Amino acid sequence: MSKDNNKLTTSWGAPVGDNQNSMTAGARGPTLIQDVHLLEKLAHFNRERVPERVVHAKGAGAHGYFEVTNDLSKYTKASFLAEVGKRTSMFIRFSTVAGELGSADTVRDPRGFAVKFYTEEGNYDLVGNNTPVFFIRDAIKFPDFIHTQKRHPQTHLKNPNAVWDFWSLSPESLHQVTILMSDRGIPATFRHMHGFGSHTFKWVNHEGQAVWVKYHFKTEQGVHNLDVNLAAKLASENPDYHTEDLFNAIADGDFPAWKLCVQIMPLEDANTYRFDPFDVTKVWSQKDYPLIELGRMVLDRNPENYFAEVEQATFSPGSFVPGIEASPDKMLQGRLFAYGDAHRYRVGANHNTLPINRPLAEVNNNQRDGQMRSDSNGGGSVYYEPNSYDGATESAADKPAAFAVSGLADSVAYDHSDHYTQPGDLYRLLSEEERARLVVNIVGAISPVEKDEIKIRQIGHWYKADPEFGSRIAAALGLPVREDA
Ligand code: HEM
Repeated sequence: MSKDNNKLTTSWGAPVGDNQNSMTAGARGPTLIQDVHLLEKLAHFNRERVPERVVHAKGAGAHGYFEVTNDLSKYTKASFLAEVGKRTSMFIRFSTVAGELGSADTVRDPRGFAVKFYTEEGNYDLVGNNTPVFFIRDAIKFPDFIHTQKRHPQTHLKNPNAVWDFWSLSPESLHQVTILMSDRGIPATFRHMHGFGSHTFKWVNHEGQAVWVKYHFKTEQGVHNLDVNLAAKLASENPDYHTEDLFNAIADGDFPAWKLCVQIMPLEDANTYRFDPFDVTKVWSQKDYPLIELGRMVLDRNPENYFAEVEQATFSPGSFVPGIEASPDKMLQGRLFAYGDAHRYRVGANHNTLPINRPLAEVNNNQRDGQMRSDSNGGGSVYYEPNSYDGATESAADKPAAFAVSGLADSVAYDHSDHYTQPGDLYRLLSEEERARLVVNIVGAISPVEKDEIKIRQIGHWYKADPEFGSRIAAALGLPVREDA
C-alpha cells in the first residue's frame, strides 16, 4: 500500500478524520455519543485480554522445522516420520508453570515444552516439559496440586505451607521435586534445556503392530543452568530474560536446535517391567531402553505478533495423527480432556481455525458455526454424514489400533509405591558440589513452612531416597530424621 493510501481506518474500514481529539459539544463541552470511532476504540480495548492459561501462563514461542534423521517407520506409520530428510513445519511454546502472564522468567519452576507439528495428516501436538517426570500420576490430583502452587485465597500470596504439605503427603512427587530443587530447576535460557514428552505414548505401524514410546529432545546448545543469585537478580531487573534471549537469538540467526530421540519398549514388556511403565513419576532406564535418534528440530523464525501466535496457540496432548496414540497413563488420559476444554473456554469454540492452530492439512469435518467463525464455515458443502452427496467419508485404515481392556471398574491406586529408588539414584549421580547446592536450595525453599510436622515428613522421604540426602537436610534444618513420619 502506498503512503497516500495508508489511511487510518475504523474497525469497519472507513477513514478516520481525527484520532487525537474526541468529538465534543463545543471545545470544552461533554463528549458526544455520536463519536462512534471513539466508542468502538474504547470498547475493543476493553476486550483486548483473553483469560490467561490457568497454568503455564507466561511463555515465549517460535516457529521452526523438524527433520527426520533416522528411519523408524518400522515402528510408526506417522507420515511425517516416514523417511530420512523429510521436513515438517512446527511451532513451539516454552513456559513457566505457576506464575501469571507477567511473572518473572528466572524462577524455580518446571518449564513447558509444547510442540505443534503441522503434518500433512493433521497437527500432532507434543505437550511436554523440560523434565522427564511429573509431580503426580493421576489426573484427579491435578487441580489440588495446582492450587498449592498458586496464591492463597485470602492473602493472595504464594504459600509454601500448602506446597510442602501437598508434596509431603504425595510422596510420588519426590522424583520431580528433587529435579526441581536441583540446578536444573532454573535453566539458563529456554535454549539450554532438554525437553521431554514425559508420558508413555503408543506408536503403531502399517501392519497394526504397536510399541510404547517416550520422547527426549536433547538440546544442541548444551544444558546450562542459572546461579540462584543471578536468577533472583534477573527476576527483578529483567523479568522477561528468557523471552528476550529466545527472540534475540533467533533474530540474530543463532537458531537453537534439539535432537529428538525416542525410547522404544515392546508392547508385552509393559506387563513384566519392574514398575508400571505408564507411571509418569518414573523414567525408563536407558540401559533397558536406549535412546534412538529420530530427528532434529530447529527454531528459525520469530512470531510476527505475540498475541496472534503465542497467546492464541492451543496445544492438546489429544491431537494425534495416525500412527501415534495414547497410552493408559492416568495423567495422560485426564489431559486428553483438559486441554480441548481449556481451549474452548480460553480462546473459543473455533480456536482451531485461527492461523496459528489451523492444520496445513485440509480440515474436512461437519462442524459448523459457533462464535468467531472466521473461515468459510464449510461454504455450501455437505454438512452431515452419512450422506448421498459425495461428502467427506471416514477412512477405516486410520482407525486407532484396537487394544484389549480388562479388569473391574474401580478407583484403584497404582500397584507400585517405590517413590524412593529413582530420586535416590539421581542424588547419587550428582557431584558433591551439585549435592551441596541441592541441599541449600531445598533448605531455602522449605524453611518458611510453619509446621515442623510437614518438614519432618518431607525429610523422611528424602532419607528413604538416600540416608545421606535426608540427614543433610535434617541437620541443616535442625530437625530429626523420622522415616515413619
Ligand atoms: C497447559 C492441564 C499435566 C504440560 C495446561 C493447561 C491446562 C493444563 C488446562 C492450559 C491450556 C491452555 O489454556 O491452553 C493439565 C492437567 C494435567 C496436566 C489437567 C494433568 C492431568 C501436565 C503434564 C505436562 C503438562 C504432565 C508435561 C509433561 C503443559 C504445558 C502447558 C500446559 C507445556 C502449556 C501449553 C502451552 O504452551 O500452551 N495444562 N496439565 N501438563 N500443560 Fe498441563
